[in-house]
Amino acid sequence: MPPVNARVVVATDFGGPEVLSVVDQEVPDPQGDEVRVAVRAAGVNRIDVKVYSGEMGADRSQLPRRLGSEAAGVVTAVGPDSSVAVGEEVIAFRAPGAYASELVAPGNAIVAKPGGLGWHEAAGLLLTGGTAVHTLTATSVAAGDTVLLHGGSGGVGLMVVQLAGLRGARVLATASERNHELLRSFGAEPVVYGDGLADRVRALAPDGVDVAIDTVGNDEAMDVSLSLVADRSRIATIANFDRAPREGVQLLGNGPGADPGQDIRDGARDELARLAAAGELRVVIAGVFSFDRAAEAHRQVGAGHTTGKVVLVP
Ligand SMILES: NC(=O)c1ccc[n+]([C@@H]2O[C@H](COP(=O)([O-])OP(=O)(O)OC[C@H]3O[C@@H](n4cnc5c(N)ncnc54)[C@H](OP(=O)(O)O)[C@@H]3O)[C@@H](O)[C@H]2O)c1
Repeated sequence: MPPVNARVVVATDFGGPEVLSVVDQEVPDPQGDEVRVAVRAAGVNRIDVKVYSGEMGADRSQLPRRLGSEAAGVVTAVGPDSSVAVGEEVIAFRAPGAYASELVAPGNAIVAKPGGLGWHEAAGLLLTGGTAVHTLTATSVAAGDTVLLHGGSGGVGLMVVQLAGLRGARVLATASERNHELLRSFGAEPVVYGDGLADRVRALAPDGVDVAIDTVGNDEAMDVSLSLVADRSRIATIANFDRAPREGVQLLGNGPGADPGQDIRDGARDELARLAAAGELRVVIAGVFSFDRAAEAHRQVGAGHTTGKVVLVP
């Protein structure tokens, strides 16, 4: 195959978004079951900011560091053992370095993209959607449950709101006031976070809260969850790696002491794509930025008040 070059977003140092730049890199030919994808959009996640901020270590031997883990695009080449065809529209999830115009991903990262699903939505669906399914499965959310969700308007939060609703649960979701109408449109009951949160939730749910899901990770979310939900196995956090092990609540994700739930998350991929294509699950797009504006996209995500998903386009 003739050599292919890609435009790739890299972090050239540890620090703030100013360390991001776009470089040209040669793309290797796909081997084994690998698939090469011409990327139409790549999803931005908070973890992408954390890998170069220093929050997760600062090993300089990893620089320059490619970023991203999810993208959507068209297959341009396949390895000899691949069952995917050139020209197929796909989503690549758990695809390291996904901020690239051409990306080689392992075969097990590839999911068929339904025709009715847009590129931006497809690129932003699976990390947040899979995480949301994991939180709901780990806490056994079912019809009739009342769920307190901390951080209802973020990327993961909006997925939890909708998927809990599809399971027949009642969702009380914390968010800033400006996001309350959006949460109502998805069937959740919004609650302002901050002082007095537990009392506001008690007033809305005098019969009690069955499950708490924390996507925020601060003390307030943990303390209010502990005060309102008696069964600690029905409290889950994806962001409080500090307190969860001490409090005996479920810690979900990749990190010390956490349950990565990879089977649950991977097992949910096709159904998430189907629901999104059918319009039963909406990926709210907060912003679309070109690769050249990746720093701006990361500033927005890093500020911690994104409503939905930010995506990058080559
Ligand atoms: N463990 C895992 O597997 C896993 C997977 C995905 C994400 N994560 C982590 O989970 C967290 C959330 O991810 P995300 O992608 O959903 O992030 P995100 O989209 O950036 O979340 C932003 C949301 O957080 C809300 N928020 C900010 N401060 C808040 C507070 N004090 N109380 C309640 N809500 C608050 C904001 O609401 P307002 O704008 O309305 O204030 C905004 O809607 C991140 O730390 C991420 O790294 C973990």
